[in-house]
Amino acid sequence: MKKDFLALSNYSKEEILSLLALAAELKEQKRRREPHPLLAGKTLGMIFEKSSTRTRVSFEVGMYDLGGSALFLSGSDLQLGRGEPLEDTARVLSRYLDGIMIRTFAQEKVETLAKWSSIPVINGLTDYSHPCQIIADLLTIQEHKGRLAGQTLCYIGDGNNVANSLIVGAIKTGMDVRVACPASHQPDAEIMAWAKKNGVFECGENVLEMAEGADVLYTDVWASMGQEAEAAARRKIFAGYQINARVLDAAMRDAIVLHDLPAHKGEEITVEAFEANAGTIFDEAENRLHAHKAIMVHLMR
Ligand code: CP
Ligand code: NVA
Repeated sequence: MKKDFLALSNYSKEEILSLLALAAELKEQKRRREPHPLLAGKTLGMIFEKSSTRTRVSFEVGMYDLGGSALFLSGSDLQLGRGEPLEDTARVLSRYLDGIMIRTFAQEKVETLAKWSSIPVINGLTDYSHPCQIIADLLTIQEHKGRLAGQTLCYIGDGNNVANSLIVGAIKTGMDVRVACPASHQPDAEIMAWAKKNGVFECGENVLEMAEGADVLYTDVWASMGQEAEAAARRKIFAGYQINARVLDAAMRDAIVLHDLPAHKGEEITVEAFEANAGTIFDEAENRLHAHKAIMVHLMR
C-alpha cells in the first residue's frame, strides 16, 4: 500500500528516528558531493495554495539531488482553483506523477487528496500542521544537542500549525515539551491531551516560567498565512510572547534557539536574539532540504 506523510501522529517513534537517520546520511552524501540518485526518473508535483520560500526550493532542489524532477503547481493556476474537485485532481495527477506535495489551508484537503491519489502525498503545511518542518527541526536539535530524548523544548507564541506538529514530534522522540502562549491561543486540545498522556507536557501563560531551564527555545510568527487581517489584533494578544534577552537568561546557558522562518523580528523574537542564534536558525532552514529528501525517499523509492 502507498504511504503518505500527512501528520506526525501517523508516524511511530521508530519511523521518525529512521527518517532522521536517513536525512543525516543524505546530508553527509551531499556534503561529500557523492551522487545519490535514489529517485532517478521520478517526478514530484508541488501544489501551493500559500506562499513559500523554504518548502518550495528545498523540495525542488531535493528532487534534483535525488535524480528526479519537480513541478511547481500554483493552486490558482490549476483547474483546482476554478473548482475542479480534489478527488478528480488527485486521480489525474496520479497518472502523471510519482508523488505530490501540497501546501494548503484545511488539513482535510490534504487528507482528501491522499485518499483519492494512488501515489504518496506529502503535507507541506496546512492551518493545522507542518510535519515536514518538524523533521528538519528534530534533525537540527539532534545535531546541536547530540540527542533528543531528555531535552526540554519550550515553544513560545501562537499555538498554531507549527506548534501542533512540534509537540507531536518532540513528545514522540522523548523530549519534554512546554508551551508558553495566551490561554486563548493554545495548540490543538486533542494534541495537548495526547501529549500529557504520552510524555512530559505543560502549557502555560507565563513565558519565563515555561522557558526556565529549557535546552531548546522555539518560536513562530504571531500571524500565520491566512491570518493577515488579524495581524494588528494579534500583535496585542501576543505582546510579550517573545524570545528576548530575559527569556534567553531563563533558559539553559547552552540553549539553542530555533525558528521555522520567515521571522517577524521585533515581534516573536528580538533582532538581537535572532542574530545571536542565526547559525542554528539557518542550519534549521538548511535541514529542510535533507529532511524533505529523506521523506521523499521513504515514500517514493
Ligand atoms: N518554514 C517554512 O515552511 O518556510 P516557507 O513558508 O518559506 O516554505
Ligand atoms: N505558522 C506559519 C508557518 C510558516 C512556515 C504559517 O502558517 O504561516
